[in-house]
Amino acid sequence: MNLDEILKQDKLTRDDLVYLMNLKEEDDLEKLYNKAYQLKAEHIGQKVFYRGLIEFSNLCVKNCNYCGIRKDNNKVDRFTMTEEEILDRAKWAYENKYGSLVLQAGERSDKEFVDFVDNLIKKIKEMSNNELGITLSLGEQSKETYQRWYDSGAHRYLLRIESSNEKLYNSLHPNDHDFKGRLECLAEMKEIGYQVGTGVMIGFPGQSIEDLVDDLIFFKENDIDMVGMGPYVLHEDTPTAKKVENNELLKTRNLNWGLKMVAVLRLLMKDINIAATTALQALNPVGREMALKAGANILMPIITHRKYRTDYQLYENKPCIDEEASDCKNCLAARVATVGDEIVYGEWGDSPHYFKRT
Ligand code: 5AD
Ligand code: SF4
Repeated sequence: MNLDEILKQDKLTRDDLVYLMNLKEEDDLEKLYNKAYQLKAEHIGQKVFYRGLIEFSNLCVKNCNYCGIRKDNNKVDRFTMTEEEILDRAKWAYENKYGSLVLQAGERSDKEFVDFVDNLIKKIKEMSNNELGITLSLGEQSKETYQRWYDSGAHRYLLRIESSNEKLYNSLHPNDHDFKGRLECLAEMKEIGYQVGTGVMIGFPGQSIEDLVDDLIFFKENDIDMVGMGPYVLHEDTPTAKKVENNELLKTRNLNWGLKMVAVLRLLMKDINIAATTALQALNPVGREMALKAGANILMPIITHRKYRTDYQLYENKPCIDEEASDCKNCLAARVATVGDEIVYGEWGDSPHYFKRT
């Protein structure tokens, strides 16, 4: 079968996915991205929704081998924003008509942290007259905690599976992780009623195109509502960095794989939310715009105060660390305009898929 025939099909086989992920010629890629963009326009609209991202603490109990803020990296200055500072950023998002927020931090599950987050959710809901949507990206927690945060007003949760291949997953994580436990977390969120988001890292050492195709199938089989996946980007002070042989080659390849993953996922799951992630921009100044062109529909502008941004570096060359949120707002609006999409202000921008499956 050739590319044109595959792009006409409504259902894609595993072989089709492998074929698409292996495309290399510029013309073929153009066709793939155009098809994905056309599907986004049909099923979601030529629209982009914002989630203001507040990275409020870099304290983390885990030691993911790839991550710059892993517990054992003692070069990192650790911080946690105060409740007041976080509420100030939430208020900024509300006033600037960002429909929703993502609260993200390194992983902790002690009582003090769980209470802190619970309180925050309630206060943000109160401050915004219930208008700001709240997505959490706070790692693995007990079902009780997920339930508690949901009851307080959070309604979406992001927890990346990182790799759907258990062996690769284990190679990325030391003994502080358990693949089955992570799957259970995703199932529990779904049971509670969250819109469930997951994602993977694309192009870390040891991962193949076939593995990535399995990741796409994983999203489909698990009926995921939203996906945030991004290229693996090296961070010098991590164990995974030592496995990278040629970082320049890795960067070019991972940008390319990252964009193809977005486009092929759009072909596979037409009505889900797909983020154009910041890691794409670390590899190319217009990486996120390229992802919007390839079928993504969500942007997560970082709205954390400038003074904390340098200490939240999961990978090298993280963009926008010298900017303030207001700079990002204007810069992003201009960028989205280049794609031909419209930014939707003041709406949650929920995944249409969620309403079909519930
Ligand atoms: N490159 C790309 N993504 C990374 N993450 C962590 N470290 C890196 C890295 N070096 C991603 C993980 C995690 C998310 C918060 O950031 O996928 O789930
Ligand atoms: Fe911690 Fe998340 Fe980094 Fe893992 S990826 S070390 S859980 S911040």
